[in-house]
Amino acid sequence: MKNIAIFASGTGSNAQKIIEHFEGSSLAQVNLVISNKPKAKVLDKAKDFGVPTHVINRQGFYHSNEVVDLLKQHQTDLVVLAGFLWLVPQNLIEAFPQQMINIHPALLPKYGGKGMYGMKVHQAVVDNQEPETGITIHYVNEHYDEGKAIFQKSCVVAPQDTAEMVAKKVQLLEHEHFPKVVEELVKNLHI
Ligand code: GRF
Repeated sequence: MKNIAIFASGTGSNAQKIIEHFEGSSLAQVNLVISNKPKAKVLDKAKDFGVPTHVINRQGFYHSNEVVDLLKQHQTDLVVLAGFLWLVPQNLIEAFPQQMINIHPALLPKYGGKGMYGMKVHQAVVDNQEPETGITIHYVNEHYDEGKAIFQKSCVVAPQDTAEMVAKKVQLLEHEHFPKVVEELVKNLHI
């Protein structure tokens, strides 16, 4: 049984989909959810599913080995960032080489980087009259949204689409594909 740790800062709809996907699975389980926001809805969702949670602060995350130690204690095989807004420090990246992934709500390298998250991404897509957008699942490195891409899926942006409408389309893609991509990665983990 492989262990998945999810990092999230917000609602956690993707985290929920992944937790649900692996419920009853003999392949993997989500056995830890970490958030930097004590009131993030993702923490309530995790608790509803009986998944242990942990809240981190900046000091612990950037200036100690707290999170690496916590992940080791939970025998984490794969780290999944699902709407986690803090840049991941080097010690954590080094502890999980090729074992840490992120989902971004656009077709990277377009509309990525610091400050490009949530509705800002979708608004920029609409403002630039892009004909399509989508999702990118990628390995995490020390720069925002720059690790090697693992999976992309696109959707059409219609001329009359608002940023909210684009967000809904992209979220559907995320919920459909993220758990499956996580499963494929877990199956191919050589650790
Ligand atoms: C998703 O759009 C994801 O791509 C981005 O943050 C959002 C998280 O949404 N990185 P949720 O908290 O999973 O609902």
